[in-house]
Amino acid sequence: MNISFLIPSSTIRFTTPKKIKSVVGGQERVDVYSRILLNLYRWQDRFDADITAIFYLSHLEENLSISISLSNITHQIKTELEATHFIINLFDTPGNFGAKAQKQDFETLLTTLAEKHTLYYLTSSGKDISVLNDEILKSGDLCFILGSQLDLTENQERVLGKFNPFLISVGDREYLASHIITIINHYLFSKYSKM
Ligand SMILES: C[S@@+](CC[C@H](N)C(=O)[O-])C[C@H]1O[C@@H](n2cnc3c(N)ncnc32)[C@H](O)[C@@H]1O
Repeated sequence: MNISFLIPSSTIRFTTPKKIKSVVGGQERVDVYSRILLNLYRWQDRFDADITAIFYLSHLEENLSISISLSNITHQIKTELEATHFIINLFDTPGNFGAKAQKQDFETLLTTLAEKHTLYYLTSSGKDISVLNDEILKSGDLCFILGSQLDLTENQERVLGKFNPFLISVGDREYLASHIITIINHYLFSKYSKM
């Protein structure tokens, strides 16, 4: 069982020099990815499932996905600072972390993901997360797609719509992407631990 999280970001560039000072509060919202990674890292040991983070740089000049299985991370990531260092190193040398960096447009990425995963789009206007019952969750690999500091663009939503994702909500308040990941993982954990 694989649980993937796909998070597009339009601001982050692959090759710009990244230092801790420029990352924290910088124009490129690498800090959003750092918090996401820190959260995912904390959940990896709690599931009998592999978690994959797919960072998708959707800037027009990028169209680049960086996928990393959390089980490949041998570094300790206990703080946001450690997570930020890790992301900077990951972008420098993805191969050193068993990560895959691939130039591809959003639709191509989704086509590949949809071959093996059921797609879930996180949006406050979706159906309550409780519709994800045991039967659905046991049916295969899961891929959750959510915005980073911004929602998906209209165009990304249109492309995603072609894949008929389940629209899932955790309520009508808006949460940070890293919080959404914790809420989903908590939900899945409470389900899986009963299976
Ligand atoms: C920080 S939010 C993006 C910006 C947010 N819409 C705002 O107005 O601040 C990050 C992403 O988390 C997901 N999300 C946030 N709140 C949610 C909710 N209540 N239910 C489901 N997904 C949610 C959406 O995919 C959203 O794009």
